[in-house]
This record gives sequence, C-alpha cells and structure tokens, in this order.
Amino acid sequence: MSEPTSGPSLKVAIIGTGAIFKNHLEAYRALEHVEVVAVCDVNEELAVRTAQEHNIARAFGSTAALFEAAKDPADLGRLDIVSVCTPHPTHEAVVVEAAQAGVHVLCEKPLAITLESSQRIVDACRQHGVQLGVLFQRRFWPAAQRIKTLIDDGTIGQPILGHASVMLHREASYYAATPWRGSWATDGGGVLMTQAIHYIDLLQWFMGEVVEVHGHTNTFVHQEHMETEDSAVATLKFASGAMATLQASTAVTPGLGVQIRVTGTTGASVQLTEFPEGTEGRIDLLGTGGTIENAPTWPAEANPNTALSEINAALVPYHKLQVADFVNAVGAGT
Ligand SMILES: NC(=O)c1ccc[n+]([C@@H]2O[C@H](COP(=O)([O-])OP(=O)(O)OC[C@H]3O[C@@H](n4cnc5c(N)ncnc54)[C@H](O)[C@@H]3O)[C@@H](O)[C@H]2O)c1
Repeated sequence: MSEPTSGPSLKVAIIGTGAIFKNHLEAYRALEHVEVVAVCDVNEELAVRTAQEHNIARAFGSTAALFEAAKDPADLGRLDIVSVCTPHPTHEAVVVEAAQAGVHVLCEKPLAITLESSQRIVDACRQHGVQLGVLFQRRFWPAAQRIKTLIDDGTIGQPILGHASVMLHREASYYAATPWRGSWATDGGGVLMTQAIHYIDLLQWFMGEVVEVHGHTNTFVHQEHMETEDSAVATLKFASGAMATLQASTAVTPGLGVQIRVTGTTGASVQLTEFPEGTEGRIDLLGTGGTIENAPTWPAEANPNTALSEINAALVPYHKLQVADFVNAVGAGT
C-alpha cells in the first residue's frame, strides 16, 4: 500500500465537512504528493470555518460552484480526487457530478441507499473513466486481513458458517442532534444501513456473494427519533451454499461491541471481536483441537459506551490505510 513517490501532486477536495470529515483530512495529509485544496459543504458558513480552521485554501457552498471552479485554471483549477462525506442519499448526485467533471471519487459508505442508485453511480464512473472507491476501512484491520488470508490460503477450509453480532449503543441524542439520521428519506435505513453495513461487508468479503436473505427488523428503543430500524436479525445464504446469521442493534445498553465468526470445513473457526466499538478488531483462532491462538484480554477499564467522536477518531488509522490505497490506485491507474 505504498503511495506514488513521484509525479505532480494530486489535488483533493473533501465534500461534506461534518463528523467524518477530519478522518479524510488527516488521511490525505499523511501522504506526500497529495494536497487538500478545497472543502465544500451546503452549509457554506461551516465550509468557510472548516477551511480557516484547517488551513485549506478554498471553501465552496455547493458542488456546482466547486466543479465550476475546477474547470478554470485561473480559479481552483485541476481537481484529481474528491472524498464524498455527505449523508447517504446525497451520494448519488454528488458522485455523478464528480464523475461528469472527470474527478476520481472516494465515497463514504454506504455508496447509496438503493441498488439502482448504486448501479447508476458505478455506470456514471465507468462512462466518464474515473475511479470509484467506497470507504470500508474495517477491511484494513490487521485482524480482518488475517482472517481473509486464513480463508484464502485454505487454513480453515471452505467457509461454511458465519455469524455477525453487532450489539451497539447509541444515545437518543445521536438521532435527535442530526436530523437526517433515522428517516427513510434522508438516512435510507437504520442500524443495517449505517452501522452493520461495515460488518455485512466483512462477512461478504470473507464468505462471498449473498444470494438469499430472510430477516426481521423493528424499532424498540429509539422510536421517538427514528422511523427506520434500531434492530435487525437475518439469515443469509451465500452463492457457495454457506450460511450465516446476523444480529444488529443500536438499542443495547451498555454496548457489547461486535463479533464476527467464520467456521470452515476443517471445523476451525476464526473470530474477530471489536470491543469497545471503535477499537481495532482482534482475532481469536479456534482450532479443531482447541484454541490455537489466544487474543490478549481487554483492558479492564474499557468503556463500553464510547463517545461517537472517540469512535471516529479511533478509525483514523484505517481511513489512512484505505485513503493511501485509493490514492495509490489513482496514481497507478489500477
Ligand atoms: N466510514 C465510517 O466509519 C464512517 C463514520 C461516520 C460517518 N460515515 C459516513 O459519512 C457520511 C457523512 O456522515 P457524517 O457523520 O460526517 O454526517 P454529518 O451530518 O456530520 O456531516 C455531513 C455534512 O454534509 C453536508 N452536506 C449535505 N449535503 C451536501 C451536499 N449535497 N453537498 C455538500 N455538502 C453536503 C452537511 O451540511 C454536513 O455538514 C455518511 O454517509 C456516513 O455513513 C462513515
């Protein structure tokens, strides 16, 4: 995951200067030959304040103004990459606009809130010859990479059973303070769309394509502020014939973190644990003849109700790895 070491700087703009903005800024700023030249937010005041605070040359109040300025060498001039850090249902319009402007796109998860919208995004990027990446930084956890290797090199055999347990805590204020969260129109889903998506992505990465899903959703605790689900269960069937179960909730107090387990045809299981939420995933390898590797125990002082800002801050190292990977792909044209 090395970055290009020569050639002109890649010019980046970050669109959406809310909670996850800083992860992208820090990730780009950790790289040589990459310059964050602009920010953009429909809340123009916020964009201007953010640019001043972080010493970024330009701030724009709309993507139209950003891409217009990028056309003009006497104005902002060439833009190579945009990071899209806006709420999910806005991703399609922003990514398509970037693609039409010939700018590569690294988009926050979820890519979109419907399959059709995702397809239109992929088609637009293909049509305009720009590269598209979607942020799933948990794939860059050492434990997740290790599980992938143990599956790929045959250590646990063919995956047959999987389980994801996503037992998280969110305060009512998490939904109340950010009005777009928790509505079908502006969030597109609840715990599945916003939190569990990272772990569903990992399950698919480990076990392959899902061909059948059965499930139930409900809103048990956060009804006052959300019309989407705070809890979900599902069974998944994969193209290989493997099967998995999923349990996900933001109604758990205190949060119990996340566990993902994959069992292979050798009978061995690999299990990844993220507890408290936002800490790096850790691995247990459970061999057929007993435990073959132990994870160290968690620190006793671990707080299961970590603040969201701390969770986002803990993700920065992995945003850095994925942003470096994307920048490298853009530089190398891969
Ligand atoms: N990878 C992760 O672990 C992770 C963590 C947190 C958030 N996210 C994702 O990042 C995205 C943003 O989440 P957030 O928590 O930062 O949200 P936020 O509400 O804190 O910030 C979103 C910002 O986008 C701006 N915005 C809205 N529409 C816009 C548009 N059309 N053009 C320009 N700006 C626009 C808003 O004014 C706001 O400032 C979401 O898709 C979310 O799922 C990912």
